[in-house]
Amino acid sequence: MIHPSLLTTIQWVALSTLILITIAADNYSSSSSPIFLNCGASTMQLDINNRSWEGDTRSKFASAMNGIAASATYQDPSLPSLVPYMTSRIFISNYTYSFPISPGRIFVRLYFYPVAYGYYASEDAYFGVKTNNLILLDNFNASQTAQAANYAYILREFSLNVTLGSLDLTFFPSTQNGSYAFVNGIEIVPTPDIFTTRTPTHNTEGNLDPSDIDSMTSFQTMYRLNVGGQAIIPQGDSRFYRSWEDDSPYIYGAAFGVTFGKDSNVTITYPGTMPNYTAPADVYATARSMGPNWQINLNYNLTWILSVDAGFYYLLRFHFCEIQYPITKMNQRSFFIYINNQTVQDQMDVIRWSGGIGMATYADYLIVTVGSGQMDLWVALHPDLSSRPQYYDAILNGLEVFKLWDIGKKNLAGLNPPLPPQPKTDVNPKGVSGGGKLKAAVPAAICAVVVLITACFCVCIICRRKKVAKHSGKTDKKCLTYQTELYKSPSNLCRNFTFHEMQIATSSFDETLLLGRGGFGDVYRGEIDNGTTVAIKRSNPLSLQGVHEFQTEIETLSKVRHGHLVSLIGYCQEKNEMILVYEYMARGTLREHLYSTKRPPLPWKERLKICIGAARGLYYLHTGPKETIIHRDVKTANILLDDKWVAKVSDFGLSKVNPDIDATHVSTVVKGTFGYFDPEYFRLKQLTQRSDVFSFGVVLFEILCARPPVNTELPEEQVSLREWALSCKKIGTLGEIIDPYLQGEIAPDCLKKFADCAEQCVADRSIDRPEMGDVLRNLEVALKMQECAENNSKFSEETTSSKTTPDMMTIMDTDKQSTYSTMSITGQRTIFSDMMDPQAR
Ligand SMILES: *[C@@H]1O[C@H](CO)[C@@H](O)[C@H](O)[C@H]1NC(C)=O
Ligand SMILES: *[C@@H]1O[C@H](CO)[C@@H](O)[C@H](O)[C@H]1NC(C)=O
Ligand SMILES: *[C@@H]1O[C@H](CO)[C@@H](O)[C@H](O)[C@H]1NC(C)=O
Ligand SMILES: *[C@@H]1O[C@H](CO)[C@@H](O)[C@H](O)[C@H]1NC(C)=O
Ligand SMILES: *[C@@H]1O[C@H](CO)[C@@H](O)[C@H](O)[C@H]1NC(C)=O
Ligand SMILES: *[C@@H]1O[C@H](CO)[C@@H](O)[C@H](O)[C@H]1NC(C)=O
Ligand SMILES: *[C@@H]1O[C@H](CO)[C@@H](O)[C@H](O)[C@H]1NC(C)=O
Ligand SMILES: *[C@@H]1O[C@H](CO)[C@@H](O)[C@H](O)[C@H]1NC(C)=O
Ligand SMILES: *[C@@H]1O[C@H](CO)[C@@H](O)[C@H](O)[C@H]1NC(C)=O
Ligand SMILES: *[C@@H]1O[C@H](CO)[C@@H](O)[C@H](O)[C@H]1NC(C)=O
Repeated sequence: MIHPSLLTTIQWVALSTLILITIAADNYSSSSSPIFLNCGASTMQLDINNRSWEGDTRSKFASAMNGIAASATYQDPSLPSLVPYMTSRIFISNYTYSFPISPGRIFVRLYFYPVAYGYYASEDAYFGVKTNNLILLDNFNASQTAQAANYAYILREFSLNVTLGSLDLTFFPSTQNGSYAFVNGIEIVPTPDIFTTRTPTHNTEGNLDPSDIDSMTSFQTMYRLNVGGQAIIPQGDSRFYRSWEDDSPYIYGAAFGVTFGKDSNVTITYPGTMPNYTAPADVYATARSMGPNWQINLNYNLTWILSVDAGFYYLLRFHFCEIQYPITKMNQRSFFIYINNQTVQDQMDVIRWSGGIGMATYADYLIVTVGSGQMDLWVALHPDLSSRPQYYDAILNGLEVFKLWDIGKKNLAGLNPPLPPQPKTDVNPKGVSGGGKLKAAVPAAICAVVVLITACFCVCIICRRKKVAKHSGKTDKKCLTYQTELYKSPSNLCRNFTFHEMQIATSSFDETLLLGRGGFGDVYRGEIDNGTTVAIKRSNPLSLQGVHEFQTEIETLSKVRHGHLVSLIGYCQEKNEMILVYEYMARGTLREHLYSTKRPPLPWKERLKICIGAARGLYYLHTGPKETIIHRDVKTANILLDDKWVAKVSDFGLSKVNPDIDATHVSTVVKGTFGYFDPEYFRLKQLTQRSDVFSFGVVLFEILCARPPVNTELPEEQVSLREWALSCKKIGTLGEIIDPYLQGEIAPDCLKKFADCAEQCVADRSIDRPEMGDVLRNLEVALKMQECAENNSKFSEETTSSKTTPDMMTIMDTDKQSTYSTMSITGQRTIFSDMMDPQAR
């Protein structure tokens, strides 16, 4: 046992090395084969790696199932595979899966994709997972963990030694009201003993007794890095389906050293009794060294920083292999290994340890950390000159970090990681409190200026920061602390359906399932995956759209994901068929809730929220994705509502992607709908984002007045909604033409803000129109004015400046929205149909 006094400082010990390690030979129970359980699914399905996942409905591992099967309401584009992430099992009370397993060591991998599952919001997932005698996760907030790591999904890997002949995995919701537990997939892979090392040889003056890692110790994988190489996906390490990630995101500072691969005439070999499953040859075949310049090397440490949970033991396994000539002999390269600024190894000479070039070896070190919460683990290498080596350099090929079962606590669970600071929290206090303090001291006029300047300053900083973050988005994403899996497969973003599947989904395109007809073809309601309702758009064989265009469109659409855009689930391209599968929007188009309808009129606030939602979607199209997208056909029939009244913009499929970031316009064939056209579009044949703004302005008037943009049955001056509304606004009679149902319901300042905004949008010249971001801000201000009026609180300028700024920040946070805001969108069955009202086209 470990003496408690040792817990006061960070301790380490070199546990083992290569050659003399007697690891049980490659001889382990193959009688138990891997288990892949797709929770919440009822049938067998293949994942992206062709591993076959069994559904847990009526599975022999899941007896007396009391959990609820649910499907994710949103498919994040970064999901590596639909199986097992898109279905989940939800538990509102304790539930235990029971897996019969022959005794021995196993990997248990738990897959979590925190999004809304029907009525279960992602924020309410708060739970624990335990085995027969060990808590793996406790008070686990999957959504927070994913958010902190800037990841959409979480994979947790544990290594356990099962002795009882079975493994029970219990999911238990936390005691907090409304909490539930969930899991998307459970993977169990038997392994030989790859951890415990029985005869440590290079054990320097260690303070921890190596026997503390006994054969029963449980581990959680924190990091598994292929240093100097690329990510290795599970089937690249097919024995145990481990994934290895690229180490570069974890390197400290700009001192990256150099990466290199093995010389072609070098073969990776596993010397002596070292099993070849210790790590795949690909890990040893690439490496990072400090670089060719010895003077530079002496002046820096090659450092990795890995965030871990404090208060646990960690096993760090360093994989080494010399792979390039001329380093073939001892004492050519010798270096220090530091962990948390302490020397754990001096005179590390890979050739001496391994026996030669191309021969793999590894070294294990055990450390203990104190405290709680998150801490950084520093791993560094530096040349050791004490033996006068030929080169002043260091090398590393792979690094694994495992958290050990804390022997006292029977617990592997850490705390939830803190969320990264939100930009809006910096801005608000600065802008407001700074202003507030000054107010007492200086005249009001100066104060106003100061507040304004402060506000502008903050806005600029935030915008710039946001921009930077956007450009370095890739790196940002990789700065994750908890994730061990980092492979991506863009080809899987969008599902490829077979025509046969489409026939089943729509009962062979049954007319009774027809939702609408349009220029592109027919839209059907369909059902896929045993119960997910979707909208299926089948192209008209005579449609002019070519195959190439169809493919480009799918590529574009599958990249565009946002909570206020109707997302594409998949497509089918077979024979002459071109079919698109979208989310299903339960409440149809906005248009059918406004006029010529039997549906009850929408209250004003609801309408404002819908406008804001649609504006967000358009704003994202204009600024969010890599390329700017111009919708080209913004209209009330293309704004759809889901069952929770969330507005989503649809039918941007035929939009043209702006290929050149600098070009602000696209010349193109006129497409769009009469009544919404940008007049400049006719004159100049130029399409810009502001053409969408124009159409959106018409939509705003349409929502306010509840009439179509063009109605030829009306007297001439009233035919065009835009002209009519503008002339009424000019003479101050706009209040008389608004939807009679809204009379008296709209706060006067809100109406003014809204109408001003609409008027600016439909300005004749595009340069006079605001950008979508400004429209969005104005609408949010209008909503706030309405809310204040309803709460009888006077809406003062002061509250405007303090409240709108953070909103503005939220809007700018498009990166985040694309990944996470959608988590908050609930609704079991969702979305779509752009042509529910064929007349609208
Ligand atoms: C492999 O396992 C069998 C029993 O399962 C045992 O008899 C044999 O000695 C083992 N071989 C090695 C090399 O450990
Ligand atoms: C999965 O199997 C299919 C058909 O057997 C094959 O075409 C595909 O390449 C396989 N994919 C992977 C990742 O192995
Ligand atoms: C569920 O499991 C937790 C954790 O072991 C336990 O504290 C709780 O009492 C269990 N609840 C029920 C109803 O069994
Ligand atoms: C989980 O974290 C999210 C933040 O991502 C938070 O909104 C939510 O309240 C947390 N849930 C619980 C139950 O603490
Ligand atoms: C939990 O819910 C129950 C009933 O719904 C309520 O009486 C209790 O006050 C709630 N507890 C907390 C901590 O919110
Ligand atoms: C698992 O634990 C048992 C009992 O301690 C031990 O005999 C066995 O070697 C262990 N297996 C592995 C793979 O560590
Ligand atoms: C292997 O190739 C390197 C150059 O890539 C060369 O310097 C070395 O001599 C070769 N070694 C053998 C044994 O062929
Ligand atoms: C590992 O070694 C075993 C024999 O010991 C061999 O069957 C297997 O193919 C090797 N695996 C790899 C990836 O080289
Ligand atoms: C290691 O040293 C650096 C400065 O050289 C310091 O910033 C860092 O906090 C130290 N790390 C630990 C774990 O003490
Ligand atoms: C490298 O790290 C060690 C341990 O933290 C420290 O003592 C040493 O000063 C560092 N060297 C350089 C050049 O930063």
